[in-house]
Amino acid sequence: MILHLSGVLTGDQVDTCRSRLTDTHWSDGRGSAGYLSAAVKSNAQLPDNHPLARELGEIIIRALDGNARFTAAALPLKMVPPLFNCYENDAHYGSHIDGAIRPVTGTPYRVRTDLSATVFLSDPETYQGGELVIEDSNGPSEIKLAAGDMILYPGTSIHHVKPVTSGKRLAAFFWIQSMVRSDHHRTMLFELDNAIQKIAMDSPDQSALTNLAGVYHNLLREWADT
Ligand code: NI
Repeated sequence: MILHLSGVLTGDQVDTCRSRLTDTHWSDGRGSAGYLSAAVKSNAQLPDNHPLARELGEIIIRALDGNARFTAAALPLKMVPPLFNCYENDAHYGSHIDGAIRPVTGTPYRVRTDLSATVFLSDPETYQGGELVIEDSNGPSEIKLAAGDMILYPGTSIHHVKPVTSGKRLAAFFWIQSMVRSDHHRTMLFELDNAIQKIAMDSPDQSALTNLAGVYHNLLREWADT
């Protein structure tokens, strides 16, 4: 499932990220890529132990903590702290797959990358190109979102970022290990949860709601690891 989450960050939070990233010292993005990905990667990135990445990453983590749609879709167990990148002057990232396991720098922990996420920080009209292209069984999806919006997609997808031919594309990106490893199972749980919420809104007196909620939780119990 590829899911667009609108307004994950408020306008003020986006402004804070953009202004704090304006004068920062970017590093070569190839530093965090495996050797196959490094060969096709050309962008700039904040090192993951950079204090600014930690500070701005906290804003995103806090925002996601309170985001019910994110929680329902991702069923998060662990997250890699958000990283930040900058594409300009034809920077791009060719077709690649994200590594299955990411170490969390400075800790003994590792995160299985069940889900990948990108939070767009630049207004789409301020740069040309820079679409995130995600390939799945339905073919490629081109993603270019409003500042503050997030795309959540399976870590199993091959994807690339088209060259940014003018302007500057700032984004945060990170990975999530879900309590439910299978994208197929997560998608069914998300759809069932949405259906239950809709019935609860439309006809809250339906006694079968309790049964449906029971099915949801029993499936979650079947499939989740904590
Ligand atoms: Ni990637």
